[in-house]
Amino acid sequence: MKKTWLVTGGAGFIGANFVRLARERDLARVVNLDLLTYAGNLDNLADLGGDSDHVFVRGDIRDGDLLSRLLAEHRPEAIVHFAAESHVDRSIHDAVPFLSTNILGTHALLEAAHRHLQGLAQPERDAFRFLHVSTDEVFGTLGPNDPAFSERTPYAPNSPYAASKAASDHLVRAWCHTYGLPTLVTNCSNNYGPYQFPEKLLPLMICNVREGKPLPVYGDGRQIRDWLFVTDHCEAIVAVLERGRVGETYNIGGSSELANIDVVQTLCAIFDERDPAAAPHARLIRHVQDRPGHDRRYAIDHRKISAELGWSPRIAFTEGIRLTVDWYLAHQPWIDRVRTGAYQEWVEKNYARR
Ligand code: NAD
Ligand code: DAU
Repeated sequence: MKKTWLVTGGAGFIGANFVRLARERDLARVVNLDLLTYAGNLDNLADLGGDSDHVFVRGDIRDGDLLSRLLAEHRPEAIVHFAAESHVDRSIHDAVPFLSTNILGTHALLEAAHRHLQGLAQPERDAFRFLHVSTDEVFGTLGPNDPAFSERTPYAPNSPYAASKAASDHLVRAWCHTYGLPTLVTNCSNNYGPYQFPEKLLPLMICNVREGKPLPVYGDGRQIRDWLFVTDHCEAIVAVLERGRVGETYNIGGSSELANIDVVQTLCAIFDERDPAAAPHARLIRHVQDRPGHDRRYAIDHRKISAELGWSPRIAFTEGIRLTVDWYLAHQPWIDRVRTGAYQEWVEKNYARR
């Protein structure tokens, strides 16, 4: 019989890419639990419409009764936990949704999984996995000559978002250590690619440059991120889920450290090629006030996952950024529906606001 994965947050950016990959390859039947906050978008899953092995459930990971019902009904072999508030700038304006979803939501999911496992026979219990998708931001910031984050780097989260994800990682560790829940944790660097909500750097810049709007670069723009194409992240998660060692954490990154200003300049150069009449697009760059507490540099040492599970990034940034630009240019209706709020009409029609 086909196995089932309960995926949380599968209508968001990475979750939707993961669900699509899982269904395209028929890796598992997917029960997709997503609250459809501003970041969740069913358009991301539109072409799975006729797929009876993708079951979408609109619901909240903080709802323990719902979680128990879903686990009893679908008896998944794994939970893959993406659902979160994910945007650092929003966490600086209001941390409460981050504390609530990222910490209490993860706790509710751990508890539901723990209770569910008590009722399973030993072979099913042994096969079960709880994979928690986390971030490199839990490690804080690096100096220019520091070695990249490894799995042994101490936690030092700097933003409210990072602190909430660090707390959730610690809860996962505690549920493994105390209750024997078979957990796996992945800590990944900056993702980019199709279906990313245009509040994050790359999709925001692509949408703005296309419309001739200013490109707001925080501070001097010399902050460094380690960029990973989203499908490479999804492949890494599949590898960890299927072959990772229980109780372990795995760092995932693109070996692609770039300063923000260089990322934006590269994007402008691509638009110069595509639309020479509007060149130079770099004239749109504006250095604006920096993000408070802005981490200066992230870099991931992914030697553990590469050595143990044979994973390494496949798509170089030079290729991935062109794939990303092409995707956004080919999906103007997706952008328009996000911009106008039309992507949430279905939600408004079908569910009363809580
Ligand atoms: P996203 O903001 O695009 O998607 C989050 C999804 O979670 C949305 O579909 C939203 O509706 C859903 N959600 C939010 N609160 C919920 C709740 N209470 N119950 C159920 N669903 C809820 O985020 P993303 O960029 O796809 O990130 C996914 C995960 O990966 C997050 O846990 C994030 O911390 C982690 N991560 C992201 C990156 C990145 O670069 N984007 C890198 C490393 C790790
Ligand atoms: O490192 C992994 C993290 O990457 C994930 O855990 C987060 O969920 C994800 O949002 C991302 O966090 P960042 O804060 O790094 O991503 P963001 O796209 O918001 O910003 C990337 C860099 O670009 C960061 O240094 C801030 C800068 N920036 C961002 C925006 C939105 C700008 O200079 N201008 C902007 O308008």
